[in-house]
Amino acid sequence: MTNVVRDAENLGSALRNWRRALHANPELSGQEEQTAAFVARELRAMGYEPRERIGGEWGLTADLHVASGPLVALRADMDALPIHEETGLEFASKNPGVMHACGHDAHTAMLLAAARMLRERKNELRRSVRFVFQPHEEKYPGGAPGMIRGGVLENVESIFGVHIISVIPKGIVAAREGPFMAAVNQLHIVVHGKGGHAAMPEDAIDPVVISAQIITALQTIVSRSIAPHDTAVVSVTCVEAGTADNVIPSRVVLRGTIRTFDENVRQRVLQRVREIAAGIAAACGARAEVTLGEGYPVLLNDAATLSRAKRAAESLGGGLIWQNLPLQGGGEDFAYYGKHVPAAFVFVGAKNEPRVPCFPHHHARFDIDEDAMPLGAALLAQYALEAGR
Ligand code: NI
Repeated sequence: MTNVVRDAENLGSALRNWRRALHANPELSGQEEQTAAFVARELRAMGYEPRERIGGEWGLTADLHVASGPLVALRADMDALPIHEETGLEFASKNPGVMHACGHDAHTAMLLAAARMLRERKNELRRSVRFVFQPHEEKYPGGAPGMIRGGVLENVESIFGVHIISVIPKGIVAAREGPFMAAVNQLHIVVHGKGGHAAMPEDAIDPVVISAQIITALQTIVSRSIAPHDTAVVSVTCVEAGTADNVIPSRVVLRGTIRTFDENVRQRVLQRVREIAAGIAAACGARAEVTLGEGYPVLLNDAATLSRAKRAAESLGGGLIWQNLPLQGGGEDFAYYGKHVPAAFVFVGAKNEPRVPCFPHHHARFDIDEDAMPLGAALLAQYALEAGR
């Protein structure tokens, strides 16, 4: 076990205290005022001078200056979700209906630990380090664009972030080179027909039948319009129609999500959704109004940056195992940073059954093995220590 892991494990109780304090006081995306104040207080106690309210939101950064020239950035997100916690933990959420159900409390705690550890290893660093505490990850348009507009990537040569994962065993660090997490678009289609008596369909234009055809035809996009070596997801998840068994409604609302991993594929899928909805509706004498809401872009892991992260993980020892993952259908606003500077994002396993019951992210009983946090903190610190070597 290297010293960095030992340092991080020595910070285990601080890590737990930070995470539990944050966990008990979760704040929704865009409302992270108390969380940001907590982080700023802890950073000041370590001797940092945080820069607060970046881009007009609750994001903050702190720099550890060791050399002129480019910096490396380490990023954590801080927001919680509109979920009512059902874990029964002693440090469960005190804000009804709000819960840290994605581990962003752990991310913030781990980055605080990295900030403390690196301060003590300042003389080993070849690059100055910027600690980026980002708000608003869980909700589009995300917090990263505001942070970028606020200048957090200025003079940054690479950025690294980790996500703790409740369904990957503790001790595993996992990622994928190139496209890793999906680009997201929201699908919203309103089919406008003509309502009427269900016994006299000849006088109506039935949007229910038209919608059924649209839903089925949308499923041909992935199978017929996308090459077999490319991939995409088109899911219709919500169908709102009708009020009675003897009334043909005048309109149907369809909603769903589109996930892609390549910008050309994304544009092709969006184009096909518009064509299919408009074409089928027109053929049936109806009209389809299509809105394809923009979500996060595809998260691309830069090869050189990811291999530095991998080197950092492997040099930590401590029984840590690196695993290559397939494409992930989830979205993450860390993707925005990678559009400006080389970026790498990795998953840190935190599953440990039966000690911690395993539930997926965004679940009311989501929890992690807190013993995974020192590894995540050590990985963040080690990435910075590897920079410039
Ligand atoms: Ni998350």
